[in-house]
Amino acid sequence: MSRILLTFALVIPSLTLAGIRHFPEAKTWVLETEGTSYVLRADSENRLLHLYWGARLQEQDYRAASFQAAGEEYPAWGGRINVEPCLKVNRPDGVRDLVLRYASHEQTGDTLILRLKDIRDDISVELEYQVYESYDIIRKSARITNGTGGQVTLESVQSGLWQIPAAEQDRLTYLAGHWGREFQVLREQIHQGAKVLESRIGKTGHYLNPWFAVDHGDATEETGAVWFGALAWSGNWKFTVERTSDGRTWLTGGYNDFDFAWPLHPGESFETPAFYGGFTSGGFGDASQLLHRWERDQVLPDGHSPHPRPVLYNSWYSTYFDVNEALLKKVAEIAATLGVELFAIDDGWFGRRNNDRAGLGDWEPNPEKFPNGLGPVIEHVHKLGMKFGIWIEPEMVNPDSDLYRAHADWVIHFPGRPRSEQRNQLVLNLARNDVKEHLFGVLDKLLSENRIDYVKWDMNREFTEPGWPEVPIERQKTIWIEYVRNLYDLWDRLRERHPEVIFEACSGGGGRIDLAMLSRSEQVWTSDNTDPFDRLKIQHGFTLAYPPKAMMAWVTDVPDRLNQRTTSLQFRFLSAMMGSLGISVALEKWPEEDLAFARKMIALYKDIRETIQRGDLYRLASPWEGDLTANQYVSADGKQAVVFAFRHSQQFRDTFPPLRLRGLDPATLYRLRPIDEKVTGDSRTVSGAFLMNHGLLLRLVGDYDATAVVLEKLGSP
Ligand code: DGJ
Repeated sequence: MSRILLTFALVIPSLTLAGIRHFPEAKTWVLETEGTSYVLRADSENRLLHLYWGARLQEQDYRAASFQAAGEEYPAWGGRINVEPCLKVNRPDGVRDLVLRYASHEQTGDTLILRLKDIRDDISVELEYQVYESYDIIRKSARITNGTGGQVTLESVQSGLWQIPAAEQDRLTYLAGHWGREFQVLREQIHQGAKVLESRIGKTGHYLNPWFAVDHGDATEETGAVWFGALAWSGNWKFTVERTSDGRTWLTGGYNDFDFAWPLHPGESFETPAFYGGFTSGGFGDASQLLHRWERDQVLPDGHSPHPRPVLYNSWYSTYFDVNEALLKKVAEIAATLGVELFAIDDGWFGRRNNDRAGLGDWEPNPEKFPNGLGPVIEHVHKLGMKFGIWIEPEMVNPDSDLYRAHADWVIHFPGRPRSEQRNQLVLNLARNDVKEHLFGVLDKLLSENRIDYVKWDMNREFTEPGWPEVPIERQKTIWIEYVRNLYDLWDRLRERHPEVIFEACSGGGGRIDLAMLSRSEQVWTSDNTDPFDRLKIQHGFTLAYPPKAMMAWVTDVPDRLNQRTTSLQFRFLSAMMGSLGISVALEKWPEEDLAFARKMIALYKDIRETIQRGDLYRLASPWEGDLTANQYVSADGKQAVVFAFRHSQQFRDTFPPLRLRGLDPATLYRLRPIDEKVTGDSRTVSGAFLMNHGLLLRLVGDYDATAVVLEKLGSP
């Protein structure tokens, strides 16, 4: 194996600034976090090479070590074209190759920009890096600028390439699924040949999620080296995973080059979404803890708010489209007595929306259901001490709507060609600024004229026939990106105008969950599948990438709509309490006994939600591996921990070994507060050492049994 040997003298001290270190004599840059190093170097020909990403090295190594032969940090198409390129351009003279060389750099605070330029033309790339030191996460993105006098066409632009150090048996872990089955965990060995994870449907997608983890084939939940990352983009995206001939895994990601062409006129720049990556030697569990902490602090819009996510009531699964003033007022009164804090009307309140065949686009209250507008319900809900929320799906239109009758040209379409409907709806072309301004006006009016505290923003279909007839042919394919950029702009402006409103991102369940949506939404709708047993797997996968605080989970009525499964109210509540709790049930039909139980569980949730929403999650037993799922949450100050345990289906009278906890202080006593008798053993005061080494004894029997226990830290024995 060829090696690059460094022979630079060790005389000039490095310039250190907030995690970014520059060794000028070695033309080397290091992005350093508390536990990791990411090393880049410009070689004698000024090719920018990636040398290393993994556990932190020593300063001596940055200057003098021999690293494995390196690949280019941002390989452009040209020269060696047998790997996925980060950038491909076409020029007016037909020259398609690009040879990028390091030109200059700029360092400000925790941000580094490295400038590369083509050897002939003034086509430049700025690679921007940001370091999140205490989270072991770095951000990368690219900006392409056309400094030439002619137009060039970008044919593929990636945010960046992650290069994983060589190993024999690398594995890829990713999240896949479909409607009602989101976030299923898939894990497979990385062989030669490209593996592509992507979306081609205009949104993030249920089918695959833009998150990955790579390990050397030996990581577990608790141990081992794991490289992980996620892309902040909610449109067509693509990850290409390749194995190099010298045994490294390369993962390139960014905009999907499917149906992609971006004309870049002289003087114009084009920017990619941010691609985040992190490393841990503490297994998949630590990888998600790092991500969760970073997402809570740096990504979610309410990162620094002291308020927890409120307990939600949503009308959808009890009424579907059949909402009206009288019913909602009655249900709101019951919900308030249970401790619900946010009361939301889902689909069905507007236009002629009595089913999914009409009304989308007409965002005025339905006059038969709400003869006096929304005002009386909102006032009633507020008087009961709850916040009020509403469902919208602004990007869509039913052909049977006043909006479509007035503006049939506003939808995405090719002239004279079929307009495929999904759920009887078409997609408004949000890439058009007039459509965006119309939606801004309508939504701003809705939020200004009504005291709405929460918006659930849905998006229930994919793009088809992605035509944009109003723009020149050369811009036709930009629709995929302009749509999403305008979506972000619309969303951001509404947030700015209505800063008190809580936003929830939804897309027929979890079809548009990614870091970009997370940065604009306090919470997300995980899945339309609310079966509490199916949810164990969905929520397990979700938490590999995204934080429990944002994960909406509802209790719904039985038998479950999808599986016809009947589970106890306790099982349903405990499954939903592992994220941000909601209920969507026919409260007006519930017996007093169930209402009393719900009251008790909501009170318990409020007592532990700080720990669940802001604590560290330990996935003790995976729903993919056996008959038990168990999760433990430890509060940020370590004073409280909560354990949830679920038995799937007992066979052969099998019992479990004691459930060993994690993340406790071994030398401290904890008081156990089980919610029932299923945590056996008489002792209610035990040490962290006992709980982590011996474990909790659980008596979960039969099918779909569940329990929980709260642990309060007492002090030294
Ligand atoms: C899909 C969402 O995921 C559901 O929660 C609900 O809001 C329906 N749309 C309403 O049409």
